[in-house]
Amino acid sequence: MQNTIQLELSRRSLLISSAASVAFTGTVAKDAMAQSAETTMAYTTKVSFNVNGEKREFDVDNRTTLLDALREHLHLTGTKKGCDHGQCGACTVMVDDRRINSCLTLAVMHEGDKITTIEGLGEPGNLHPMQAAFIKHDGFQCGYCTPGQICSSVAVLEEIKSNIPSHVTDDLTSPAQLTAAEVRERMSGNICRCGAYSNILDAITEVGGIKA
Ligand code: FES
Repeated sequence: MQNTIQLELSRRSLLISSAASVAFTGTVAKDAMAQSAETTMAYTTKVSFNVNGEKREFDVDNRTTLLDALREHLHLTGTKKGCDHGQCGACTVMVDDRRINSCLTLAVMHEGDKITTIEGLGEPGNLHPMQAAFIKHDGFQCGYCTPGQICSSVAVLEEIKSNIPSHVTDDLTSPAQLTAAEVRERMSGNICRCGAYSNILDAITEVGGIKA
C-alpha cells in the first residue's frame, strides 16, 4: 500500500516537473525570438550624407563599407574596388575634402559628411582640369585605377597648397613645395598596373603649374 502511494506521488511529481519544464522552455524560446528580432534590427542604421552635392539617406547594414555603399546602394560605380584591403587606392574618394580609401571605412561612420566621388568632380563636356589633364597626357591605359588616381591627384595638390608635409619634405619650417618628388611620394598609395606613372605625373604637375 505504502509503495502504491509512493509510486503515485512520484508520478505526480514527474508530471508537475514536466509541465514546468515545458512552460520554461516556451518562455526561453519566446525570449530568444524577441532577442533575435532586436539583434536583427540592430544590424542596420539609417545613414545620411552629402554625395556630390546631393543629400542621400538610406538604411545600411552596419558592416557595409563606404565603398560598397557608394557602389551598391547609390550606384555610383565610378569608384572602383581593387584590392578591398587598403593597398591599391582604386577606391579613393574625398571626404570633407580629404582623400580616403573608401574600402577601409564604414558607411555609418560618415553621418553628415561631404563625400566627393569621381562623378562629382566633372562630367563629359564639363571636365575637372585634372580629368582633362589625364586625357591630354594619356595618364591611363586600362582605366581601372583612374578614378582613384584623379581623386588622389586633386587632393595632393590641395595638401601641398595647405602646407601639409609628406615623408620627403626636407624643410618642415618652410612652405611645402610642389615638386615631382613630392607628387610621387604622395601618389604612392595609388597603384597603376599599366604603369602610366610618368604620364600621371605630367598631368598632375601641369594642373599644379610646375614642370616635372
Ligand atoms: Fe580600396 Fe584597393 S580597393 S585600396
